[in-house]
Amino acid sequence: MGIRTLAVDIGGSGIKVMVLSEDGNPLTERDRSETPQPATPDAVLDIVTALAQDKEFDRVSVGFPGVVRAGVTETAANLTPEWILFDLCTAITKRLDKPTRVINDADMQGLGAIAGNGVELVITLGTGFGSALFVNGRLVPNLEMGHHPFRKGETYEQQLGRAALDQIGKKRWNKRLPEAIATLQNLFNFDTLYIGGGNTKHINFELPPKVKTVPNISGLLGGIALWNND
Ligand code: BGC
Repeated sequence: MGIRTLAVDIGGSGIKVMVLSEDGNPLTERDRSETPQPATPDAVLDIVTALAQDKEFDRVSVGFPGVVRAGVTETAANLTPEWILFDLCTAITKRLDKPTRVINDADMQGLGAIAGNGVELVITLGTGFGSALFVNGRLVPNLEMGHHPFRKGETYEQQLGRAALDQIGKKRWNKRLPEAIATLQNLFNFDTLYIGGGNTKHINFELPPKVKTVPNISGLLGGIALWNND
């Protein structure tokens, strides 16, 4: 049967899980629960445990929406302050009793999307603004472009995150996004830029060359690569 991986994507609005085969193919449907409010570690762990309950798996890969170093979460802009310096890897290992690896959510999404050639940049448009950078398939972890200044004294996340989209509407959001793409192009000179995340569906302009959208499911499919890139 091979090793089964439970891929978990912790997001600001939803927590998603799916079981993957050793070669990265889905073995179950994608299962989703709303992110609890407030999204404290205990509340999120309860949801992850509940989602995992009826599934068979041998190991766990988690994408987390903040900086992650050696399984410990260091920031969590869209969750609660209790996540700062929280040992998420150990907590999940204890809850699910399976070996676990934890990585930034955009990094995980990128691992599920990239081709492994040249400079590949990934941005995710969801509650937050995620980013991941790869050079010939090698990850530069925890890029955090989202909190860098973009325009009018605001960051990429402030200008293009979910709160901004709700506030300014799709029309203005669709004017800002091409500007962000152009700025990122000038900065990184990427070979490919992948755009993922739940708000990708609102993009209504033609993407420039070298830029493509990726399906939301890559956020979970990247869960396999965490175990291949030792
Ligand atoms: C976080 C990133 C995360 C992104 C998308 C940002 O607020 O700082 O780590 O990747 O949101 O979830």
